[in-house]
Amino acid sequence: MKDLTVLIVGAGIGGLQTALALAADGHKVTVLESVKEFLEVGAGIRVPPNSSRLSLSWGVDLDSVKKEVSLGNRFVDWHGTRLLDCPFDDVRTRYGAPYYFIHRADLIAALVSAVNAHPNITLRMDTLVAAYDFEAPAVTTASGERLPADLVVGADGIKSVVRSAVNGEPVEPVDTGDVAYRILVPAAPLLADPEMRHLVENPWAVHWMGPEGHAVGYPLRGGQLYNVIIDVTHGTDLGAPIGLDEWRSEADNAHLVARFADWCPEVRKLCALTGTYLKWKLADFAQLGRWVHPAGRVALLGDSCHPMMPYLAQGAAQATEDAATLAAALRAHDTMRAALAAYEAHRKPRAGYVARNTRVLQEWLHLYDGPEKERRDELMRHNTSDNPVFWAHSVRRDWLFGHDATALTLDAIPALPPMPHPEASVYKGRQNL
Ligand SMILES: Cc1cc2nc3c(=O)[nH]c(=O)nc-3n(C[C@H](O)[C@H](O)[C@H](O)COP(=O)(O)OP(=O)(O)OC[C@H]3O[C@@H](n4cnc5c(N)ncnc54)[C@H](O)[C@@H]3O)c2cc1C
Ligand SMILES: *[C@@H]1O[C@H](CO)[C@@H](O)[C@H](O)[C@H]1NC(C)=O
Ligand SMILES: *[C@@H]1O[C@H](CO)[C@@H](O)[C@H](O)[C@H]1NC(C)=O
Ligand SMILES: *[C@@H]1O[C@H](CO)[C@@H](O)[C@H](O)[C@H]1NC(C)=O
Repeated sequence: MKDLTVLIVGAGIGGLQTALALAADGHKVTVLESVKEFLEVGAGIRVPPNSSRLSLSWGVDLDSVKKEVSLGNRFVDWHGTRLLDCPFDDVRTRYGAPYYFIHRADLIAALVSAVNAHPNITLRMDTLVAAYDFEAPAVTTASGERLPADLVVGADGIKSVVRSAVNGEPVEPVDTGDVAYRILVPAAPLLADPEMRHLVENPWAVHWMGPEGHAVGYPLRGGQLYNVIIDVTHGTDLGAPIGLDEWRSEADNAHLVARFADWCPEVRKLCALTGTYLKWKLADFAQLGRWVHPAGRVALLGDSCHPMMPYLAQGAAQATEDAATLAAALRAHDTMRAALAAYEAHRKPRAGYVARNTRVLQEWLHLYDGPEKERRDELMRHNTSDNPVFWAHSVRRDWLFGHDATALTLDAIPALPPMPHPEASVYKGRQNL
């Protein structure tokens, strides 16, 4: 299909990438975003190889963004014992681009400037979409303006309003049992400490794993900052559990210093360096029935249809793949209904599998010391589908990083790694996967 008029609801990473992907094919795109200005979320984002290649192909200037090339994923237990390195030294040759660590604000800025530079994309801030006409299709904004289009894309995030209407039943995000603390610390004090310097100088994404929680750290902005994400279960979160209607709040470092007082010195020192930071509730849901409204002209994209925990650093990457596959499906088909059916058929199983794997990791990353931790540490040593670390099995890693989202081919989905013994789970009674 050619020369379409497209409305995208939501200017998150998903909506902005979709605007660029579709405009690159000659479509006319308008992005409607409810907020007046972009929120500055101080945090890092990990950008896997094929995802950055897609963005580059749509004109996003990632070259001038200050970023680090990831050396890989390192796994350490809470006592400080290194268990496994999954190096990424072959990533550039194998998948055609490096794996980057980028400041989220820098990535958004690069996307917005590519969007603003494109003559066929209009970005309208402060424009809340209040109603949808699924047949036309069209949307109506809060100020009463009706905007028709050939295609409407609901990229309105995890709290998506359009998702339930597309599915014909309410689909609410479900509490995963975890909260994430998103923390940025200055790199200078780390560089001054001989025990900590290596964290900034050698850009690994280090995962420290312990009872009911784990931390992930990596450097950002050419070694100026160090990004820390701490994920803990509500049970041991010393602050009050976050209410269901409260998605993000501020917290201070006294909580973290106490919570991690018996962890290894690296984690303790990182906690001591944190000032105030954001605390995010992590929610997801089982796979949706539909990503496309039965009338065949409105589709969901990004966190609106596949929210996941950040444990595979894949949420934004999957939204980027959504954008590429949607553009490819529109190129390949003559009717909107056929194009959107192909988009859903290619994307839903893949994104669903990635989301389910974040639940597998959630269990394995949060074990207490004991037989199941010992079993995990042993399984982690082998390049097999039983390795609970996603990237440690080359078949899964190739499946994740080597995917060409512009080719409409259905790759076979790898098997899920096993789950720990239910007795060892710190999420007893939670409905899983
Ligand atoms: C702690 C943490 C770490 C993460 N790390 C990574 C990582 O390393 N790598 C990675 O790939 N992903 C990561 N993710 C996931 C990633 O951030 C998300 O998957 C991604 O940002 C989702 O983008 P989106 O565009 O789908 O949704 P959002 O970013 O939520 O955007 C939705 C937009 O829609 C707008 N909107 C909503 N309703 C309306 C309406 N009615 N009218 C108009 N506008 C509307 C909202 O204002 C918002 O701007 C992480 C997530 C978390 C929580
Ligand atoms: C993704 O990686 C694979 C394997 O290296 C490659 O064949 C493919 O072309 C890549 N796709 C994109 C869009 O970069
Ligand atoms: C914008 O759209 C017009 C008309 O469809 C087209 O001729 C032009 O090439 C597009 N511009 C870009 C940069 O794609
Ligand atoms: C891991 O095992 C797969 C087969 O399951 C094999 O193709 C691959 O080469 C192995 N990788 C390494 C690094 O040993």
